[in-house]
Amino acid sequence: MTREFQIIPPPYRIKAVELLTKKQVDIIDNRKRREIAIKKAGYNTFLLEEDDVYIDFLTDSGTNAMSDNQWAGMMLGDEAYAGSKNFYHLEKAVREIYGYKYLVPTHQGRAAEHIMSKILIKPGDFVPNNMYFTTRRVHQELAGAMWIDVSIKEAHESATWHPFKGNVDLEKLEKLIKKVGASKIPYMSLEANVNMAGGQPFSMANLRALRKLCNKYRIPIMLDGTRVVENAYFIQQRENEFKSKTIKEIVREICSYTDGATVSAKKDILVNIGGFLSCNNEKLFLEAKALVVVYEGLHTYGGLAGRDMEAMARGIYEMVNGRHIAARVNQIEYLGHLLLKAKVPIMVPVGGHGIFLDAKRFLPHIPQKQYPAQALCAAIYSESGIRGMERGIVSSGRDPKTGKERESKLELVRLAIPRRVYTHTDMDFVAQAIIRLHKMRKKISGLKMVYETKQLRFFQAKFKPIGEKLIK
Ligand SMILES: Cc1ncc(COP(=O)(O)O)c(C=O)c1O
Repeated sequence: MTREFQIIPPPYRIKAVELLTKKQVDIIDNRKRREIAIKKAGYNTFLLEEDDVYIDFLTDSGTNAMSDNQWAGMMLGDEAYAGSKNFYHLEKAVREIYGYKYLVPTHQGRAAEHIMSKILIKPGDFVPNNMYFTTRRVHQELAGAMWIDVSIKEAHESATWHPFKGNVDLEKLEKLIKKVGASKIPYMSLEANVNMAGGQPFSMANLRALRKLCNKYRIPIMLDGTRVVENAYFIQQRENEFKSKTIKEIVREICSYTDGATVSAKKDILVNIGGFLSCNNEKLFLEAKALVVVYEGLHTYGGLAGRDMEAMARGIYEMVNGRHIAARVNQIEYLGHLLLKAKVPIMVPVGGHGIFLDAKRFLPHIPQKQYPAQALCAAIYSESGIRGMERGIVSSGRDPKTGKERESKLELVRLAIPRRVYTHTDMDFVAQAIIRLHKMRKKISGLKMVYETKQLRFFQAKFKPIGEKLIK
């Protein structure tokens, strides 16, 4: 990948653009303003004002550009309180593409996770996961379960090339089942294209073996299908059996091995808001349908407007277009290629939704207790007006029992790339900025944390540089 790079062009033309404000454009040339802004934000990029951000790679969540077809659908929103037409369009799309029988819409992914955890988990249970996602884990823990990591060891090694770092370590899982008993495991929590591991897929072979093992012990598999399309693309590219299968067929097969899914529609599905819980089990569906009215809204809108459901329904068909997903991943690989060529340490292979810089190798002079990924993220902004996000010990949080910081082997900065929003020129600009910063990396100081919240602290924590300044 570091030699000749083949561009895959996308299957669309840009017919409307989002104009940046003068303030957003001027920030590129105004270091003083960037320094003031990041200091005011407590060196946490989540607390920056968008007017102070030039390129926004904070997240690929809800930041997608919708198509003309989706915008046209927004005008056909049926805003009836009950039985909106758009709900039935969404239900049809979910059945056709994911293949699950039942649908409960929610306003976003974590609301579906909340409802699912409340129904399936009893205090004292154990939930095995292929690594963790912040919101899924917090809902498992709030419902009284202990989160257990059953990801393969390569998932925690940023420099190891492994085609399927999202795989489940089946031996680890079986050991857990034997130790605690299957009755204490309400479900196997399986994330597609594991976010915290850098957007890394599981293989179909691993999923088939997982299904077999879970059948043996009668344990359901609940998918986090937020990035299932990106996972399907990697299966198509890397598993011989799937070379000539369509993305639609692969997505369908993945879901067929699972019992249900929670999905944040703000990623693969190409919308700005939305989510759902979907499953084949009638009992789970009826309980979720009863709970959604308590937390979200009636079961035919779940906290969404009719127009949002229509945009989701249309996005579901668009997301499985093979050329769309190939071009989307290829754009990220292009940025990865530029950085690898300049020997900037990143998670390899390049994942499906962003570039993950390895802060431990980027800033070896900063110990993990001084939050190197947080410092690097703040330094990237300070140097260039580009916003990323910490995915290391700050995101990992504290153990709910001991209160101690959870060690995280990975200490990453995520540059998540919104779908259909940025061009290759933006990727060139970002690469130049990161390479420039890499050359002056020794000047970057560590941080101390001065404020944190009990749950999901990475969103609102505040920091101060250990030295006088973030960048000397
Ligand atoms: C893998 C994964 N699962 C769940 C969620 C939660 O979804 P939402 O942000 O829609 O609540 C996210 C969001 O980033 C995610 O990346």
